[in-house]
Amino acid sequence: MFNTGKNSTNSTSSGFDYLSEYPQKYFDKDAILEERIKARKLFEKLKVENPLIAKTEQLYKKLNIVDDFFNFSINNDTSISLTVSDKYKSIDQRNTVEQVEERIGAFLRSLCPWKKGPFTIMDTFIDAEWRSDIKWNRIKDKLGNIEGKKIADLGCNNGYFMYRLAEFNPKLLLGVETYPRYRYVFDLISPHIKANMQWEMFSAECIRYYHSFFDTVLCMGLIYHMRDPVSLLHSIHNSLVKGGKIIVESLGIISDESIALCPEGRYNGCSGIWFVPSLKCLKSWLKRADFKNIECFYSGKLSSEEQRSTKWANIKSFSDFIDSRNNKTVEGYPLPYRFYLVATK
Ligand SMILES: C[S@@+](CC[C@H](N)C(=O)[O-])C[C@H]1O[C@@H](n2cnc3c(N)ncnc32)[C@H](O)[C@@H]1O
Repeated sequence: MFNTGKNSTNSTSSGFDYLSEYPQKYFDKDAILEERIKARKLFEKLKVENPLIAKTEQLYKKLNIVDDFFNFSINNDTSISLTVSDKYKSIDQRNTVEQVEERIGAFLRSLCPWKKGPFTIMDTFIDAEWRSDIKWNRIKDKLGNIEGKKIADLGCNNGYFMYRLAEFNPKLLLGVETYPRYRYVFDLISPHIKANMQWEMFSAECIRYYHSFFDTVLCMGLIYHMRDPVSLLHSIHNSLVKGGKIIVESLGIISDESIALCPEGRYNGCSGIWFVPSLKCLKSWLKRADFKNIECFYSGKLSSEEQRSTKWANIKSFSDFIDSRNNKTVEGYPLPYRFYLVATK
């Protein structure tokens, strides 16, 4: 059910909670509940103290959209789309539709810059900084059959990949993301998707609370944000069923050696980056975290086709952080590549 305007801090909008659905041997329920309480307290504080969040919260509360107002679809195999359902397309519903359009427009604009996308909400095309559809096209064939599977997406941002995964009828989709603002996108979109989807606003490191539970874990755009990448991979290994799969996607540097760059500050304009591995190093991390069948299925130079500034992400982006004359990042580091790997437990 669509809970827009009611409560954006529950871990699910439908009342479904995977913690009550599965035996406790699969996770440390008390620890997870404690993390939820901490996250909720922090979110409540930020709703008052952080002007960006306070504004979005205010606009979110005003949305008041009825449950059956939207249909969910994937537009042109690219953008996550909410369109007005047939019931609201008659002339006498025009005012309602226009009012929703106005309210939702202000809400969506308050979420700028949109880092991941694209989305099409009513008639508004949200071209985000990152073309997540490009990443999706690279990983989709490596996922295998995910029908009836339990999947976690660590560092899920606004949930773009969860909405793409939902199409294939997984049993559970769990998004884990620390940044509170992205949760509002999930609260807008997920009630219109027929899937057991849930959101945990805690650190990816909390994957250590899960044991032999997930069939697949996505760890994309995240490993370089970790102070201790091998520990995270090891916890992911533990969280997977036997034969379960990890998909890792990471920033990387080119080297024949098993090394990682530890930037002194930003790397390619990005903060919070601890280690940028070579492909050999990333494989070695996976191996040392006990993964098997480690395979790199894509390696390529990052480019402004995939990451660029847009109207909905009016910020400095990829090309602003490249020193093309010297073939380096503006900080003087090797140019960023992206590596995509799959491995099993
Ligand atoms: C580069 S983005 C990648 C988003 C998405 N997974 C993708 O591949 O496009 C990294 C995301 O991880 C989140 N993040 C960073 N550190 C995290 C942590 N410790 N736990 C959970 N999420 C984290 C960020 O807020 C951000 O949304």
